Formats: sequence, C-alpha cells, structure tokens
Amino acid sequence: MNLPDLKEAKVRTNKEIKIIRDDYKVPENMEKIGEGKKYYLKTYGCQMNVHDSENIKAILEDMSFKETIEMEDADIIILNTCAIRENAHNKMFGFLGRVKHLKQSKKDIICGICGCMAQEETVVDDLKNKYKWVDIVFGTHNIHKLPEILEESINKQKQEIEVFSIEGDVYEGIPVKRDSKYKAWVNIQYGCDKFCTYCIVPYTRGKQRSRLPIDIINEVKELVKDGYKEVTLLGQNVNAYGKDLDINYTMSNLLEETAKTGIERVRFVTSHPWDFDDEMIDVIAKYDNIMPYIHLPLQSGSDRILKLMGRRYTKEKYLELFNKIKNRVPNVSITTDIIVAFPGETEEDFKDTLDVVNKCKYDSAFTFIYSPRVGTPAALMKNDLTEEEKNRRLYELNEVVNKYANEANQKYMGKIVKVLLESPSEKEGRLMGYTDTMKLVNVDADSSYLGKIVDVEITDVKTWSLDGKIIEKV
Ligand code: 5AD
Ligand code: SF4
Repeated sequence: MNLPDLKEAKVRTNKEIKIIRDDYKVPENMEKIGEGKKYYLKTYGCQMNVHDSENIKAILEDMSFKETIEMEDADIIILNTCAIRENAHNKMFGFLGRVKHLKQSKKDIICGICGCMAQEETVVDDLKNKYKWVDIVFGTHNIHKLPEILEESINKQKQEIEVFSIEGDVYEGIPVKRDSKYKAWVNIQYGCDKFCTYCIVPYTRGKQRSRLPIDIINEVKELVKDGYKEVTLLGQNVNAYGKDLDINYTMSNLLEETAKTGIERVRFVTSHPWDFDDEMIDVIAKYDNIMPYIHLPLQSGSDRILKLMGRRYTKEKYLELFNKIKNRVPNVSITTDIIVAFPGETEEDFKDTLDVVNKCKYDSAFTFIYSPRVGTPAALMKNDLTEEEKNRRLYELNEVVNKYANEANQKYMGKIVKVLLESPSEKEGRLMGYTDTMKLVNVDADSSYLGKIVDVEITDVKTWSLDGKIIEKV
C-alpha cells in the first residue's frame, strides 16, 4: 500500500526527470482476466482526465475487458476523478453511493478510484476508513500500473491503494483507445510548477515534466497516417513546455514542428499568460493549420487579487498580451477562466474583473466561485463573503460574459466557416463539429460527412452554438 502525502507532493527538487519506456506490461495471468466481462469508466474534470481515461480504457482492454455504457452491466467500475473544486468532490461521492448500492446486489463488482482525488490525503483517508468496499485506488502517476494493482487486490481480496506523491517521471508507451477517429489529445507535458495559491493541480499532478519533442512529433505523425484531422496539445501550462528539458526547445518550436507534420488542425490547451511569448504568437499567426483559438485564463482582473493568487502578471500586462494576440492573429477567438470571491476580494476588485471582461469581450468564459482546497495556501486565507454575495458576483459576471459570447456568435451570421464534423448531434439527421475558432456548429448532414472538414454557411445563431448548412463545392 502507498498512500498520498501532501507534504511530499509539494516538494520540487532538481532531480532529473526520467523518460521511462518499458514500465507498462500486463502480467500474463492478467491478460484474460476480463474475458466475457465489461468495464464502465466515468470521467470527471478536464481534458487531461479525458485523455487519461483513453489510456485506462486501452489498459482494461489489454486485460480483455469490453466497454459498456451501462453501469449496471459492468463487472468493473472505475471513477476517474477531479479535485479542482468542492462540487467535483461532491459529485464523485454522490456517484459512489450509487456504486455501493449496486455492489450490494452484485457482490463481485470491482470498484476503482483514480485521478486527482486519489492524490488527496483526506480523500484517501476516507476511502480507507469509511469506504473499505472500494477495491482499488490508484493515482495520476501510476495509471500504467493498473494491471498489477488489480492483480494485487484480487489476490489479497482486500482494498489496494497505490498512490505516489513523489515528483514523477514521464512514461512512454502507455496504450491509448481514442474516443474519436478524427481528433486526438496529445500530452506534451505533465504536472505544473506554477503553484497558483488556490490550485490543487501542482499537488495532484506533480512536477512539470515535458515529453521529448521527438516522442510528441512521432505521435502526431502516426495520427496523420491514421487519418486524424486534428490534434490538441495538452498540458496544464503548455507555454512553459520544454523549460524543464535541457535542450533549448520551446512551445513555439513544438507548435511549428507540429504544424509542419501536415495535420490539418493544431490546437493547444491550456495557456498561462506568464509564459506566453512573442515567438509563440508569431508561429500561431504564421501557420494556417494552427487554429486561431486561445484559452487564456484571466482568473481575476484585480492586481491585488492576482498577487494573492500568485499569478505573476498584472491587469495591464494581461491586457497588453491579449491585445497583442488579437492584433497579430487574424480572426482569433479568445476564451478565459475567471474565479470570483477569492479570499479578500472586495467589490472594487470584482469591478476590476468586470472591467477586463468589458475590455476583452471574450468569445466565452468559464466562471467559478472560489472553492478552498485543503493544503493550498489560499485555503488558509480569511474569506468573509457570504454565500449570497459570492453567488451575486458570479451571476453578475455571467450576465456580462454571456452578453459578449452572444455578440461574438452574432458576428458569424451569414458567414462561411470551416467545420470538422465529428459526431452526430442530439437531433437525428444532424452532425456537429467545431469551427477553427472553436464555435460549436450543427448542420443537417448524414454520417458520410463524419470526419470531413466542410464549408458551412451559418444560418442561425444561438448563445452557445451556431446552425449552418453545408456548402457543396462544385
Ligand atoms: N476554486 C475555483 N476555481 C478554481 N480553478 C482552479 N482552482 C480553483 C479553485 N480552488 C479554476 C481556474 C482554472 C480552472 C481550470 O479552474 O479558473 O483555470
Ligand atoms: Fe493550477 Fe495555476 Fe498550474 Fe493552472 S497554472 S494548473 S491554475 S497552479
């Protein structure tokens, strides 16, 4: 058993990061363990988790399990959890109640918990003491060890907890079962060293570790060969890509090399304004296949709060960067993340945030009420705001954000845009996809259009999506 340790998770040393290429294997006696059995995997949280789930699926299938989308049919249920805010916690524990209920009538079901919550000391204490019926718990650093962890739990017939809080290495060669045949997530970096004072990620995901450029580029080239149209380069702070490697190679180099593979669309998330340099903006502007869409988290518009958050930029610096991107990248769409009611946020601070939103007129924004995370510095800061006040600020912010999101969408009316049609819409006979600028578009089309990038004329505009019709080329 290995339990998470918050103190250990905080440590950053100069230890060289190892690239480990041969650590994944399915023990022979586990290869057929899932024959005739099904797995159900539920994913919470960000794209990083979504992509980790693609690895977990492939690992389970290497053990002969087949996927089911009905939890009741499953023999093994895995919850890939998120720790970013309290409500992610609550959702997962709520769902765990349903699993417990099912396990009462179907005793042999195996239940596993992984992801960011599995890296939290308090959560794992609870799982150890109050949820002994949960069979396996594994962390974000050792997904590839799932076969061994499962084997151990089956052999011992008791709860198996294997979570590591040490800084972690980079594991190559972990299998992946991608959810889409047309667009793919590609990890370029794990972990985060920014330690924004509200954020649990540097503790749950460990030290920033960049993959080697050659491994990333080879993965993209393989995807091109397999007919993929789009890749999204994934990391918590992609702009800092390469800074932990001793090879003088940055995110702008990686973006350029990725663009040159010939893949039709390149995206990347998520960007911290701190490391967003001019070279990167130049490369984005230069290559048509790097999509003009940037997620640029603001968090707060108040210099005082930004300082308390440890964000290392000011309102002025943020606006300068924002304007530079808008001026240099034609037709760029920019979205953001904003937290309201951070400890000590005054009305004036909040007004500063609204002021930035009014200046930037974001295409869209994800907005959150600050949620204290145990072990982070901000959780110790005093927060006098009432729940009513926190909700009022979120509501007021959303009103402004939605107004601009709607205005941004209105500009698309009658325009012809390129859309990668990626899956059926909710309505029959329709497909959905995204524009270069990440606008969701629904069109009337049959499944022969799936995976194609088509010209679409926008015929109707809603706040969160666009309707359009395919323009056939003659
Ligand atoms: N409370 C509220 N929102 C948070 N985020 C991260 N940590 C917290 C927290 N403790 C938000 C940030 C980040 C996004 C992924 O989640 O805005 O950019
Ligand atoms: Fe969290 Fe800040 Fe790292 Fe983003 S950059 S993951 S907000 S610590």
